[in-house]
Amino acid sequence: MLKKDTKILEYNKDNINLICKELTKGEVIAIPTETVYGLSANACDELAVSKIYHAKGRPSFNPLIVHFHSMDHIKEYVQVNEWAIKIIENLCPAPITMILKRKENTKLSHLVSAGLDTVGVRIPDHPIALEIIKQTNLPLSAPSANSSGLVSPTTAEHVLKSLGGRIPYIMNGGNSHVGVESTVIDLSADIPTILRYGYITQSTLEDILGTPVNTVNINDDNSPKSPGMMTSHYAPSLPVFKDVLHPKDKQAYIGFGIPHDNEQNIYTDNLSTSGDLVEACANLFKFLHKYDDSNSYTAIAFAPIPNTGLGLAINDRLNRATIR
Ligand code: TXA
Ligand code: MG
Repeated sequence: MLKKDTKILEYNKDNINLICKELTKGEVIAIPTETVYGLSANACDELAVSKIYHAKGRPSFNPLIVHFHSMDHIKEYVQVNEWAIKIIENLCPAPITMILKRKENTKLSHLVSAGLDTVGVRIPDHPIALEIIKQTNLPLSAPSANSSGLVSPTTAEHVLKSLGGRIPYIMNGGNSHVGVESTVIDLSADIPTILRYGYITQSTLEDILGTPVNTVNINDDNSPKSPGMMTSHYAPSLPVFKDVLHPKDKQAYIGFGIPHDNEQNIYTDNLSTSGDLVEACANLFKFLHKYDDSNSYTAIAFAPIPNTGLGLAINDRLNRATIR
């Protein structure tokens, strides 16, 4: 691949115009979202979408999420059913991706669906992402802006570390405030089913939909419904351990809440000293990047994190990070 001089652009009108022009021309650009940074391209341009797979080194069977600015925008390309209307009206923009049927004769590239008859659809809750989607009026396919299999980026610098030299521009939008990828819910079958845990929980979705929501066996690699949930994912180069009560020497020990035996200084860092899962989510990938980059540790060990609500998303990402 020809090496590119990757620039981080600060937010201003000229840079937004530049990025919108480049996206319309078929370029791939990293943009901020509230969950993680995305590697975006025009979802109707087959060549532009193929550049995403190429830059990420992503297996081509893995479908991409397409980002829209509004319900009407989605309706141009995708079949919006009653469940989707409820979620869009009550929740969006939000860190939720809905799997819906493609419209017949949709202009969306086939690559975004990787051979399926469905599309992952999301309205991101980030002012810069929304401004870019509105200004281009394009559906933007965007997986997380990292090399395939590595930890997702929550800052422009994380993107530069992973994809520097492979893309022309990264739009800087500061820290992604949610910090883990969107919840993925399949709304294309008889029962709504969560395919990936995230910030929006099962109980929130059940309240909005007024019907029970299933979860797939998220660790089943062979599940045809969740082709992207490869077990080995989010892997930093250092080994990661979870549910650790007694870390070994030279391991970075990442805590959650107050230390279990009330000792004050056993943690190298803390996902949330007050035991707040929202704060822990926002810090998770940041800490994985930070301690993976430091030369002072042999492993990253995490104290136990409750496996309920948002803790399901955190433990899911940690489970994947522990597999080598
Ligand atoms: O928060 C997010 O969702 C971020 C930001 C950038 O929007 N994007 C993201 O994309 O995490 P990615 O490509 O890293 O993960 C997309 C997940 C994968 O597990 C993929 O298999 C699943 O969504 N997915 C996408 N389209 C699908 C489809 N049509 N059917 C089933 N799963 C789908
Ligand atoms: Mg990803």
